[in-house]
Amino acid sequence: MLKNIKYTLAFLLLAMNAAPAHSEGVISGSGYSETMLDMVNNMQNILFGIMVEDYNQVANIAEDIAYHPGPALEKRLALLDKLEMEAMTFKLHEDRVRQNALTLMKAAERPNRVEVLESFADLATSCTECHITYREKVRSLHR
Ligand code: HEC
Repeated sequence: MLKNIKYTLAFLLLAMNAAPAHSEGVISGSGYSETMLDMVNNMQNILFGIMVEDYNQVANIAEDIAYHPGPALEKRLALLDKLEMEAMTFKLHEDRVRQNALTLMKAAERPNRVEVLESFADLATSCTECHITYREKVRSLHR
């Protein structure tokens, strides 16, 4: 199982480093781009915290992810409105990220190294699960 985690982490590291390079020009008014760039920064700092074994940092940032304010309320409502029937699933993805971030926070508070790695991988997976369905879709709604 650790082997899987290792691959996931290596992949994530690459994917995250690549992300900001694409960000220019993408800021499209959904209100989500800024939030997301904060999130990816947070993920990178968590990974750094794991590597230097600063589990306080890991716990604090995981908490920030769980309670991140997100886009302004009106932007958020406008998006959910446009997503219509899918708003529900979109919110479920947000909840899953929140739950995984809290699980990571708790693992880091103990700290349990293996659980920290596992929950970090789960958290990153839950980011991507939303992207698979909604990233392009949300972009297309704002162009
Ligand atoms: C509920 C759905 C959802 C979740 C969960 C989610 N994202 Fe996103 N993410 C989006 C959408 C939608 C966009 C595209 C926003 C736009 O272009 O307006 C996006 C875009 C991004 C971008 C690109 C931003 C840009 O401007 O190019 C990054 C980086 C990102 N997300 C990181 C993350 C990270 C890290 C997490 C998990 C901690 C996460 N996201 C969780 C929906 C989500």
